[in-house]
Amino acid sequence: MLKKKNKYVVAVAGATGAVGREMIEILEERTFPVSELVPLASERSEGERVKFIGRNWTVKRLTKKSFKDVDIALFSAGAERSLEFAPAAVKSGAVVIDNSSAFRMDPDVPLVVPEVNAHAIDKHTGIIANPNCSTIGMVVVLKPIHDRATIKRIVVTTFQSVSGTGKKAIDELAEQTVALLNFRDVKTTVYPHQIAFNCIPHIDVFLDNGYTKEEMKIANETKKIMEDDSIRVTATSVRVPVFRCHSESVNIETEKKISANEVRAILSTTPGVIVYDDPRRNIYPLAIEVAGKDETYVGRIRDDESIPSGINLWLVSDNLRKGAALNAVQIAEYLIK
Ligand SMILES: NC(=O)c1ccc[n+]([C@@H]2O[C@H](COP(=O)([O-])OP(=O)(O)OC[C@H]3O[C@@H](n4cnc5c(N)ncnc54)[C@H](OP(=O)(O)O)[C@@H]3O)[C@@H](O)[C@H]2O)c1
Repeated sequence: MLKKKNKYVVAVAGATGAVGREMIEILEERTFPVSELVPLASERSEGERVKFIGRNWTVKRLTKKSFKDVDIALFSAGAERSLEFAPAAVKSGAVVIDNSSAFRMDPDVPLVVPEVNAHAIDKHTGIIANPNCSTIGMVVVLKPIHDRATIKRIVVTTFQSVSGTGKKAIDELAEQTVALLNFRDVKTTVYPHQIAFNCIPHIDVFLDNGYTKEEMKIANETKKIMEDDSIRVTATSVRVPVFRCHSESVNIETEKKISANEVRAILSTTPGVIVYDDPRRNIYPLAIEVAGKDETYVGRIRDDESIPSGINLWLVSDNLRKGAALNAVQIAEYLIK
């Protein structure tokens, strides 16, 4: 359990990565009470500096001994590192908020999106998991609709940006784009195919059931966060040549009839959601506009005319912010409240 203090020692494991950097920025932006920042990464980054509240902080190598006196440890260094080092952090007395998939489906670990199930944080025993970046944006939008009309089934297709894979993928999209526009050959190392000017229906590894692990994460995590195993979820995840923000086409079927206008009204008062929906004026959420924003934007809200009670919508959220770093910092804010 976290002891209440005026200021906290906060470690960021993966401090040099796409999510870790964002975490440090958001801690500063939201004036989280940090007495000391402990940036951790691999030996490759040892000695590098990260800027936080006007000071340079030296990156140290992540080891099991990194967590002495640490109160809160934000992990975003991949699932293997979380499995290896998060238990050591908890043993040292830190509360871990983990961005990886390592503990998400562990029944003893709360999986939290504060706008949806903040109460689950109270049950933690040292580790709290941050959901997958595509799941977070979707459940923020769907939970209030579920509360009102009971969602029976969700069919979702995600259009996920390359920053969801991390810094190497951001570089790969930029390099491939420049190469192709200069009539040079492209190098493909991060993804199995060229990502520039392409869409790849393959995120994470394929499983025996034909889905990818990413698609099953969306299905399983949605049920856990919404605390309802009866919701049927089927997902298709596509990597698209966008730097930042995941977009999602979502179709839901509800038990009770709910109209598009009612959904618009409910979502317009939902914390963390912005209804951006005026197609006649070409207004609908776009990745390039939602990048850097905290809220999940939702538009193209319409009745599904093919079934008696269904809704179609389009949502966009910043995968590095609400999909990862911001959600983790919001959990930390709840912990110190
Ligand atoms: N990107 C997203 O939108 C997103 C969303 C939700 C969750 N996540 C999760 O967040 C984690 C990080 O993702 P990312 O996108 O930030 O990846 P990234 O840009 O590739 O950064 C990875 C970070 O982990 C560190 N790291 C790698 N191997 C390490 C090791 N052996 N020991 C210590 N540190 C090590 C890296 O340090 P070096 O710089 O020293 O290599 C870097 O700081 C992943 O678990 C990912 O699934 C990402």
